[in-house]
Amino acid sequence: MTRQFFVGGNFKMNPATREAKQALVKVLNDAELDQNTEVVVAPPSLYLIPLQEIIRKDVKVAAQNCYYKDSGAFTGEISPGQLVDSKIPYVILGHSERRTLFHETSEIVAQKTRAALDKGLSVILCIGETLNEREAGETAKVCQAQLEAVVKVLKESDWSKIVIAYEPVWAIGTGKVATPQQAQEAHADIRSYLTKAVSSSVAEATRIIYGGSVNAANCKELSKLPDVDGFLVGGASLKPEFVQIVNSKK
Ligand code: G3P
Repeated sequence: MTRQFFVGGNFKMNPATREAKQALVKVLNDAELDQNTEVVVAPPSLYLIPLQEIIRKDVKVAAQNCYYKDSGAFTGEISPGQLVDSKIPYVILGHSERRTLFHETSEIVAQKTRAALDKGLSVILCIGETLNEREAGETAKVCQAQLEAVVKVLKESDWSKIVIAYEPVWAIGTGKVATPQQAQEAHADIRSYLTKAVSSSVAEATRIIYGGSVNAANCKELSKLPDVDGFLVGGASLKPEFVQIVNSKK
């Protein structure tokens, strides 16, 4: 089974200005990108529509979050329906910064995933363990618990709209990328869990991408791993080296 390689750029709360955003888009628009790789960039909400209007058509746009209600008194939130109405096809859900800084539980992430799929969005579903959990040998257990909440609210056909991003919290923004062995082991565990919890066909077809200090220097080796189907890139997505990461399978 070949899974299309997937590279996402999570800009987080960057860049700070519209001019910097336009410069970032120009780098991508001017680049030669591997046409076999699915590329998605996730700017801050304020930039979603204007960025979608100027970016090349073979690069998709993702929101970095959304709520699980479709309208109402939820100050500061964005609904799945509003993203669809704005022709934004993807949303990142469950990012560790949402879980730690904004106290999103796996149950809330599951509700958001269900609501996003119900409106026709595709979801980049983030999971991953903290350093303490890894050092306690709980990586697989933690990732499975985070996934289990979502498995409970999805039917088998929903999984074609899910990309799982394994992002060890201790590798995010630290420069401490997972070793190939650590990444492969975690991804294989996730795929094996999907086989048991959903089905072997879903496990085989679902892309599991790695995030956490990916850069131009380490992406090629990681991209060769059998269960690494791409990347979710933070800091390096704001730099010209993001093009090399997109093309890491070339
Ligand atoms: O969502 C991707 C992000 O969490 C990874 O960040 O800066 O370690 O590539 P970074």
